[in-house]
Amino acid sequence: MDLYEYQARDLFEKYEVPVLAGIVADTPEEVRAAAEKIGGVVVVKAQVKAGGRGKAGGVKVAKTPDEAFEAAKAIFGLDIKGHIVKRVMVAQGARIDKEYYFSVLLDRANRSYLSLASVEGGMEIEELAVERPEALARVEVNPLTGIDHAKALEIAKAARFDDELAPKVADVFVKLFNVYKGEDATLVEVNPLVLTEEGDIIALDGKVSLDENADFRHPAHAALEDKDAADPLEAKAKANDLNYVKLDGEVGVIGNGAGLVMSTLDVVAYAGEKHGGVKPANFLDIGGGASAEVMAAGLDVILGDPQVKSVFVNVFGGITACDAVARGIVGALAELGSSASKPLVVRLDGNKVEEGRAILRDAAHPLVTLAETMDEGADKAAELANA
Ligand SMILES: Nc1ncnc2c1ncn2[C@@H]1O[C@H](COP(=O)(O)OP(=O)(O)O)[C@@H](O)[C@H]1O
Ligand SMILES: [Mg+2]
Repeated sequence: MDLYEYQARDLFEKYEVPVLAGIVADTPEEVRAAAEKIGGVVVVKAQVKAGGRGKAGGVKVAKTPDEAFEAAKAIFGLDIKGHIVKRVMVAQGARIDKEYYFSVLLDRANRSYLSLASVEGGMEIEELAVERPEALARVEVNPLTGIDHAKALEIAKAARFDDELAPKVADVFVKLFNVYKGEDATLVEVNPLVLTEEGDIIALDGKVSLDENADFRHPAHAALEDKDAADPLEAKAKANDLNYVKLDGEVGVIGNGAGLVMSTLDVVAYAGEKHGGVKPANFLDIGGGASAEVMAAGLDVILGDPQVKSVFVNVFGGITACDAVARGIVGALAELGSSASKPLVVRLDGNKVEEGRAILRDAAHPLVTLAETMDEGADKAAELANA
C-alpha cells in the first residue's frame, strides 16, 4: 500500500525524522486557514499518489494566506497522471540551499535491502538513474543489521556528501531506516531531502509503501487505507479474503492456486486470439477450500465487473475434491440467483472428477457448460465472450 505524502510526513514525525509543519485541507478556505495558522511562506501541495507533482503544477509557493487560497483554487481538480486532486497539504515553506535524494527499499531480486542516495536530488530518480548513473550511490543493506550510524555514514560517503554534511545526513538516514523497519515498509523515499539556508537537513517530500503482509502487526495501518480510491471490485474481493486482480479483458477467470490461475490467463489470452482478441478480465485465486461461500464470493466479484462477458472456472482437485467444488458452484449459482447472468464454462480435473462433473450435469444450470480440458474450456469461454 502506497501512502500519501502527508501520511508519510506524519510517520516521519513519529520517528523524529526532521519535517516541516504540514496541514491537510480539502477546500481553498481550509487552505487559507491552514496558511494563517502556519504563518509566513507556505507551499500548497497536491496529495495524489503520483510523482512529478511539481512539474504538473501541483506544488505552489504562497507568500500570504490569500495567495495560498488562489494557489489552492488552481490545484484542486487538477489531473496529475490520471489522479484528480481532492486534497492538498499546506506545508511550511523551506529556504532551500541544496536538494538531495535518499531511499531504502526491498530488493527482491537480491533478497536484500537496498539504499539509494545522491547529492543530486530534486529531479525524478528514474531520470537521474538513466542520465547520471554515476551520481546515484547504490549500497546494499543487510536486513539483519539494517542501517546503523556506521552504515549510514557509508551510504553518505558513497553518495559523496562532504565530511561536514555526512554525519548530519547519516543521522537522518538512520531515522528513515527506523521508519522502514518499524512500519514494515517496502520503500521509504525522500526526494528531496534538503539542506536549508539555516543549515538544517529536512525531509521535504516523502514516499512510503507498506507491506500489506505485515498488516497484522500494525493495526494502525488500516486507517491509512484510502477506501475511496480503491477499485470497488478489488475492495470487495479483499473484504472476502480473495486474491483478485482486475485486468482489462472480457473473460472472467477463477481457479485454485496462483500457478494454475496464471497459466489459465495465458491459455485464455491465447484462445482469445481466435475469438476477436478477447482477453482475461481478472486474476482470481480462490485457494484451497473452494467452498460454496468462497465460490459465491468469487463469482459475485467477477460478475459484478461490467466488462466480463463470460467466466472460465478452472479447478484442479487436489486436497479439495471436485465434488465439493461442483457443489460450491451449484450452491453459488443458487445463492446469486438472477445476478448470475453470464455464461460459465467449468473445467474440473483431479480428485473425484467424475463425481464433480456428475453433480454439474445433474444440476443442468442453463448458464453452465462443462469442458473436458483446460484448452477446450479456454476456447469455449473466449468464444462465448466474443458472441
Ligand atoms: N515545503 C517546501 N518548501 C519549499 N519548497 C518545497 C517544499 N516542498 C516542495 N518544495 C519544492 O517543490 C519541489 C517539488 O516538490 P515535491 O514535494 O518533491 O513533489 P514532487 O516530487 O511530486 O514533484 C521540490 O523539489 C522542492 O524544490
Ligand atoms: Mg519529490
